Amino acid sequence: MERVAIQVRVNGVEHRHEVEPRTLLVHYLRETLGLTGTHVGCDTSQCGACTVLLDGKAVKSCTLFAVQADGREVLTVEGLSQDGLHPVQEGFREKHGLQCGFCTPGMVMAAYALLQENPNPTEEEVRHYLEGNLCRCTGYQGIVEAVFWAAERMRAAQAAD
Ligand code: FES
Ligand code: FES
Repeated sequence: MERVAIQVRVNGVEHRHEVEPRTLLVHYLRETLGLTGTHVGCDTSQCGACTVLLDGKAVKSCTLFAVQADGREVLTVEGLSQDGLHPVQEGFREKHGLQCGFCTPGMVMAAYALLQENPNPTEEEVRHYLEGNLCRCTGYQGIVEAVFWAAERMRAAQAAD
């Protein structure tokens, strides 16, 4: 099988590999790089458990080929904080934004992307932004509260800088 050389910056670290053109980004992250925090929850591009940031934008990594990330920058849940938990992760813990935790990495990354774009979202904006992320445990209320908790923390940190 033909293989293609790619160079991808993941969580601040440059990686070079040869991959099959059909390799999905999520499989590259999980199987080649061992970053198993990014989950696979469906095979229909619906659940959002595989959400990562590609050049700062939230994407479902099961909908992209690894070769499409060539020359680009990926952030996964493992890279969200190098030093303790990120406020978004803390928010999920503080506000019980998870039950089984399977959807949580994708939810956290989508919430992080939202707060980068919009540091002070309304409840409607939070719910709309997270529409592509499904939680089978029906923990949506706690998830929305977690996002607000994180948003407040992040705004306070920015104001203090
Ligand atoms: S694994 Fe379900 S949307 Fe990607
Ligand atoms: S916490 Fe179980 S799927 Fe969301």
